[in-house]
Amino acid sequence: MTSHRFIVFEGVDGSGKSTQVRLLDEYLRDRNLDVVATCEPSRTELGVSIRKMIMSESLPELTTAFLFSADRAQHVEMIIRPALEKGITVISDRYVDSFMAYQGVSGNLKMQDLRLLSRIATKGLKPDLTIILDIDPAISLERIQRRGTMDRIESSPIEFHRDIRGFFLKQAEFYRDRYVVIDGTGTPEEIHQRIRDVI
Ligand code: TYD
Repeated sequence: MTSHRFIVFEGVDGSGKSTQVRLLDEYLRDRNLDVVATCEPSRTELGVSIRKMIMSESLPELTTAFLFSADRAQHVEMIIRPALEKGITVISDRYVDSFMAYQGVSGNLKMQDLRLLSRIATKGLKPDLTIILDIDPAISLERIQRRGTMDRIESSPIEFHRDIRGFFLKQAEFYRDRYVVIDGTGTPEEIHQRIRDVI
């Protein structure tokens, strides 16, 4: 039914990506498609340790960039590429665009260096389709606050999250054939239906 084998969800923190990954995963499985749902930072052993390191202390930006990249290399090598090679559809909650957005917006690293790091980590593997779950950070941050405590990145000023959103929207505008922007407001079912309409 879908020719998209590698699908990535991107969006600001609290945009509802993990719920939508789960709903799309269930939907595609119900249609007898082999699917792997995954995320970044990855759930590999390395990914779990790296996530802890990044969240627990404020490391130099370059160090953080290398840590995210090391996890991405592991993720692509151990999970994404093997699945794609078996003809399995992969849905990932975040990928390279999160890196370009978060590490790019947060400051002092050059976009061309981040792009190079991404290319090395992924060996050039690009998603077939990127779904941007678009929502005003004022709403998504409130969702997170209601859920509980915020991590180090989520606690950044709202302007930071606005810049992240802006980056995703710009990407979608630039690469119209490979991106779709989905309105991230409404109930999970309403949002899922919007995604089904475009897949
Ligand atoms: P997130 O998907 O929000 O994890 P959780 O749902 O467990 O909070 O990802 C964790 C954070 O890491 C998120 O704020 C975005 C950030 N991030 C980067 O800064 N760079 C990256 O390359 C990736 C993949 C994530």
